[in-house]
Amino acid sequence: MDVTYETLLLEVNEAGICRLTINRPDKMNALNSQVLDELDQAIDQIEVDADIKGLIITGTGEKAFVAGADIKELSSLDEETGKDVSRKGQDIFQRIEDLDIPVIAAVNGYALGGGCELALSCQIRIADQNAVMGLPEVSLGLIPGYGGTQRLTETVGKAKALELIMTGRFVKADEAEKIGLVNSVSEGSALEDAEKMMAAIQKQGPLAVRNAILAVNQAGKESGYKSEAKLFGELCATDDFKEGTGAFLEKRKPDFSGK
Ligand code: COA
Repeated sequence: MDVTYETLLLEVNEAGICRLTINRPDKMNALNSQVLDELDQAIDQIEVDADIKGLIITGTGEKAFVAGADIKELSSLDEETGKDVSRKGQDIFQRIEDLDIPVIAAVNGYALGGGCELALSCQIRIADQNAVMGLPEVSLGLIPGYGGTQRLTETVGKAKALELIMTGRFVKADEAEKIGLVNSVSEGSALEDAEKMMAAIQKQGPLAVRNAILAVNQAGKESGYKSEAKLFGELCATDDFKEGTGAFLEKRKPDFSGK
């Protein structure tokens, strides 16, 4: 990869797993407009690079995943610019949700406000034991504006989402796991657990993994069941399906070609 960023680190390992690190350590990796613009560019790059098989998002350092949108920038918004900034953040996070490769957030510390919303746009969240999550926008006289009112509600249900959004209180890792805000809390390193989970996913049929993401992303929509049947049918016509079922019946491990 030859694009360089000032506020992001992008590394792709030999297995095609891309690690995207939000890198503004002196500001707790807060999302200013430069980080958002660079995230948008990074997604452009990830979308077209067929060698990238999975994405892990994390933050630099041991204290913060992302401590929120940049409050200094927020402080000068008015009604029009506020709406624009919200839409811009929503669009970028929607692009993350729409990726058809596995996307895991390794939550390595504070994930507040826009940081929590970034984690929520990933398919799976794994937390370090020191993770602290929350949507404290009400303390700034705001509501979450990068999709958090929608995705937190989908993730933890309406009552818990409203509790967290209206009080703005912080949730530690154990509670985050209990309410389903994170999939698991790592006993060691969230990043290493995310890498292990990616490796387990990479052993499966790649077309099936992609269609699983597309199908689950339709959940709750009217067209969800229809999409599931279409995506299921598509897979039945693939070499991977023949290989996967054949390998089971022949009592051997499958060797998927992604075709
Ligand atoms: N936007 C802009 N700057 C931020 C920031 C944010 N969301 N979060 C942290 N920072 C900056 C601080 O201003 C400070 O900068 P400085 O050294 O130039 O003064 C630096 O990051 C370190 O943060 P600090 O507050 O000193 O660290 P801490 O360990 O005492 O507290 C937090 C950590 C995360 C609890 C605290 O920074 C915080 O509450 N941040 C805001 C969280 C928030 O409301 N996010 C939602 C925004 S929508």
